[in-house]
Amino acid sequence: MSDITSKKVVLGVTGGVAAYKAAELVRRLGDQGIGVHVVMTEAACGFITPATLQALSGNPVYTDMWDARISNSMAHIELSRDKAAIVIAPATADFMAKLVHGHADDLLSTLCLARDCALIVAPAMNRQMWENPATQRNVAQLEKDGITLLGPASGDQACGETGNGRMLEAQEIADAVAAFLAPKTLAGVNVLMTAGPTFEPIDAVRGITNRSSGKMGYAIARAAIGAGAKVTLISGPSSQPIPAGAMLTQVQSAADMFAAVKKHAKGADIFIGVAAVADYRVETPSEHKIKKTESDALTLKLLPNPDILAWVAGQAKPPFTVGFAAESQNLENYADEKRRRKKVNLIVANLAQNAIGADDNEVMLLDDSGTHKLMRAPKEAVAKDIVARIATLYKAAKKRR
Ligand code: CTP
Repeated sequence: MSDITSKKVVLGVTGGVAAYKAAELVRRLGDQGIGVHVVMTEAACGFITPATLQALSGNPVYTDMWDARISNSMAHIELSRDKAAIVIAPATADFMAKLVHGHADDLLSTLCLARDCALIVAPAMNRQMWENPATQRNVAQLEKDGITLLGPASGDQACGETGNGRMLEAQEIADAVAAFLAPKTLAGVNVLMTAGPTFEPIDAVRGITNRSSGKMGYAIARAAIGAGAKVTLISGPSSQPIPAGAMLTQVQSAADMFAAVKKHAKGADIFIGVAAVADYRVETPSEHKIKKTESDALTLKLLPNPDILAWVAGQAKPPFTVGFAAESQNLENYADEKRRRKKVNLIVANLAQNAIGADDNEVMLLDDSGTHKLMRAPKEAVAKDIVARIATLYKAAKKRR
């Protein structure tokens, strides 16, 4: 559905220690549905082999201007021709200097000079090289030339020092590239979302939770940010990396999640309930750890939690509401019943056994116009298609108002 899944980029790898992260980056870009064609400098081949990147990307890797695989010997033009961007990761101080001065003495620098697509650069170097006035002048010039810089980050460096100059993590670069390429279908739209599980305390150390990882919700947050939305993410406990650019509120219980949603609901144009909210909470959680006794059974009284999604959809002027349905059988019927009962605009339905904790997902989307099935794909790619569908339906609903 979204056209990002058909986009291709050239990944340019230059010769720095962070080149090892290029392997992971190829995978993470692939998760986003982005085709990756790797071009390496000679120095990069000293850090990581073309064979590794070829195997991971599934495409030939180029290092040489005169590569005979390009029939017209125009590798420096051909390779970027159908690409949405050239992404240089890692970009050494030397390569950035070459870009500033328009050098074209190898395949990658020539490709950059001859390109007619966007150029995205993820610097990686020692702290002193990064802070050197020469590098800082080059950074300013690259920005003036309309080149997008990602990072660097601060932290431990291969040289043993700590400071600025470390390349961003592969996932962060892949997210930023995907956001850069995504059509801005939700520009300026306020999206409020819930994600992850909830944790309902039993006592000071125990609680009731579920196996939701937060992966799908966080992927949707990233996709919505990529589409230009302002995202407020209310999340239960999750170890997923925080989506860059999201306004995150971390909560534990369904009651906390409900309070946070109420606080932010007013300005929301779209609400997406991805969280696996516990249906019940313990009536009176014990302040201290409950001690076991050999003979007595322990009885917990559970009370129903409020339905956050139904509350949002039931407001006098509700935002465009999207719910999730995780079922173990009868998917379409149960999900449609849930959509009508909770009065939400769109339900994303999946089989719980296929989705929970997995990296891939297969969903169907149910709205007033019927059911649309999406193919099984990594959650990041599925999230983009869901966001594309939400944007289309949200715009249509807005027109009708
Ligand atoms: N949801 C919510 N608040 C709750 C329970 C669910 O906001 N207390 C939202 C979820 O985030 C999801 C949707 O409602 O978007 C579906 O939740 P689900 O638990 O699958 O549906 P239920 O109505 O609880 O039905 P059942 O448990 O019977 O399947």
